[in-house]
Amino acid sequence: MSGDARKTAEGLTYLTGFGNEHSSEAVPGALPEGRNSPQRAPLGLYAEQLSGSAFTEPRAHNRRSWLYRIRPSAQHPAFTRTGNGALRTAPFTETVPDPNRLRWNPLPDPEPGTDFLAGLWTLGGNGDAAQRAGMAVHLYHANASMDRVFSDADGELLIVPERGGLLLRTEFGLLHVEPGHIALIPRGVRFRVELLDDSARGYVCENYGAPFQLPDLGPIGANGLANARDFKAPVAAYEDTEGPVEVVNKFCGNLWTATYDHSPLDVVAWHGNHVPYVYDLRRFNVIGTISYDHPDPSIFTVLTSPSDTPGLAGVDFVVFAPRWLVGEDTFRPPYFHRNVMSEYMGLVEGAYDAKAEGFVPGGGSLHNMMSAHGPDRETFDRASAAELRPQKIDDGLAFMFETRWPVTLTPQAAGAEHLQRRYDDVWDGLERHFRPLR
Ligand SMILES: [Fe+2]
Repeated sequence: MSGDARKTAEGLTYLTGFGNEHSSEAVPGALPEGRNSPQRAPLGLYAEQLSGSAFTEPRAHNRRSWLYRIRPSAQHPAFTRTGNGALRTAPFTETVPDPNRLRWNPLPDPEPGTDFLAGLWTLGGNGDAAQRAGMAVHLYHANASMDRVFSDADGELLIVPERGGLLLRTEFGLLHVEPGHIALIPRGVRFRVELLDDSARGYVCENYGAPFQLPDLGPIGANGLANARDFKAPVAAYEDTEGPVEVVNKFCGNLWTATYDHSPLDVVAWHGNHVPYVYDLRRFNVIGTISYDHPDPSIFTVLTSPSDTPGLAGVDFVVFAPRWLVGEDTFRPPYFHRNVMSEYMGLVEGAYDAKAEGFVPGGGSLHNMMSAHGPDRETFDRASAAELRPQKIDDGLAFMFETRWPVTLTPQAAGAEHLQRRYDDVWDGLERHFRPLR
């Protein structure tokens, strides 16, 4: 762990608001007034646009930022292929899609010297990165800070730490993310991950599709779920360093590397809305029933990546945060169901109210399209007999990547030693209670 990094993380300040046109300058006067690309940018900086959407997408969906940097990004040597490690990309074709309910224990500890990038391990996904559709589920385990810089042309990265704090040094500035928070690195943004503890572990949703946005609220009204003002973007911070820096670029599924003669994290000022951000999941305003039954888990959607079909997400990020359960005459844990959407679930801490055991922090479960799942026997028996007092669920933080297409596994996930071989057994012993009236 770097003591300096911890000290830096504690001192961070942020800009707030989701999707806002923010601006920030690390040096006064670095940001041009009134125009994006003046004949001569202030302080001898280069002006550069980073487009996260097509130029002509509607204003509400348009994402771009202007970066004012010491050197233009264009100044770099050729990239050459490097190994992909355990990172894989859609289309996923090495295994056939599996209709079984699947569950994994946490990743084993990494080899010494494993940084965030080397520690990315792909479970599976769907779609096609080159078509900018679909998603991948990755896990990561790391015990070393990166001294290289990474960017992903294939999609945005939603990072869900489960163990260990991270300091993300991005082109836009620094983000501090701890378990219980999420961080999002937009497509193409360069960043370096430094560990704030001895090791780090967590989950990553790589979203090839439309950028995550806040869900519409409909009859909920103007407030609720994740509030825009709780999303925090970094203030500008830059590195002005000369000397070799390895820059790794993920492009259409492969890693490419180049050695720059300077740090590409050299943005002195910026403005725009294609920006990285962090969000504290405990800020999520949980909405649920105050009468009977409970709403579908879409009510817990933090961020959604819309598709061309209204209401059909490429992927939703859903959180099961601490909340009160008060439904009368209601089976309160998540119900038995089969879903056209496919669900990957992970656990940041504690326990999840649909499972008595086996679903552990750092592990995960996959319930693909139409696979039947729900509470295990112990949970069913307990919840069916429980006295229905108001009950606080505050001992866990689970989440779901819910996606429109089945998740096809990588061979390493299908054959992993940490794949639980007898997950189906949790539904064994659900007794027959049917007593037809005579
Ligand atoms: Fe489910």
